[in-house]
Amino acid sequence: MSDDRIQLPSYLDHVPEVLEYFAEIDQRKVVLSIEHLCREFDSPDSPNGKLVALSDINFEVRRNEFISVIGPSGCGKSTLIRVVAGLEEPSGGIVAVDGVPVTGPGADRGMVFQNYTLFPWLTVRKNVLFGPKMKGLRDDKAMKAADEWLKLVGLTDFAELYPAQLSGGMKQRVAIARALANDPRILLMDEPFGALDAQTRASMQAHLLRIWAAAGVTVLFITHDLDEAIYLSDRIVVLGARPGRILEVIEVPVARPRSPEQFLSGHFLATKKRLEELIHRRENTPNSGGSMHD
Ligand SMILES: Nc1ncnc2c1ncn2[C@@H]1O[C@H](COP(=O)(O)OP(=O)(O)O)[C@@H](O)[C@H]1O
Ligand SMILES: [Mg+2]
Repeated sequence: MSDDRIQLPSYLDHVPEVLEYFAEIDQRKVVLSIEHLCREFDSPDSPNGKLVALSDINFEVRRNEFISVIGPSGCGKSTLIRVVAGLEEPSGGIVAVDGVPVTGPGADRGMVFQNYTLFPWLTVRKNVLFGPKMKGLRDDKAMKAADEWLKLVGLTDFAELYPAQLSGGMKQRVAIARALANDPRILLMDEPFGALDAQTRASMQAHLLRIWAAAGVTVLFITHDLDEAIYLSDRIVVLGARPGRILEVIEVPVARPRSPEQFLSGHFLATKKRLEELIHRRENTPNSGGSMHD
């Protein structure tokens, strides 16, 4: 029987262009640092009454980096981003933005979540204006800023519509514009495209890459879609479940700018193979089902 498997490069082998890219990132300032982060929940079902959702998480995100967190359902991805957002307290360890420990929610962290709801009674423009106005920006300045963000997400012509009149993908683009209008230090995204159909999702990924490059923003992005993580990210933090812990941090060996043709490149496929090995290993999943779905 012939073996027609494609010979893939190692996901650890970086072409010179990619090596240079990571060397440049390493020179940048740390925006988000996570040190020895643990988070436990009370759990009557567990033998000791505790469920360890996150155990000794350590990583840093540098200025303008795009970092994804991936892992099976229940491995603590949402808990991690909620702690970074200041919506939940750590049980141990420190999360800091620009060296300042996070103690609660703040405008320095913009959020776009899967079911993040826009204000339904406000127009698209007024949704985006909300942050700048709260910051006390003068009306004309706030309006100019909002319109620039709407232009960037490609929704200039929809400024006077209400959220209910928009498609799911458009709503998420408004949510991104609204988050960016606050000029956050980091954008936190928890499965933002999880509820969208495959085609809309692909177009949102392209939008996000363009927005990320144009806005010069740091992104922490959660997904359980391997292709999405590779296509978008500089680095991917791979989590395992029970307890939620880091299995590996992968420097994506795919050069930028990214394009959909790269989905079939050797470096892309090699990275995907490695992610599959890490995530689908039985011992890393809470039960033998190993579902990647929430
Ligand atoms: N508020 C909570 N109380 C108790 N257990 C929780 C709570 N939030 C999350 N968990 C548990 O922590 C684990 C991680 O959850 P989560 O962070 O939502 O995972 P993911 O987003 O990766 O699917 C799960 O076992 C979940 O049931
Ligand atoms: Mg989740």
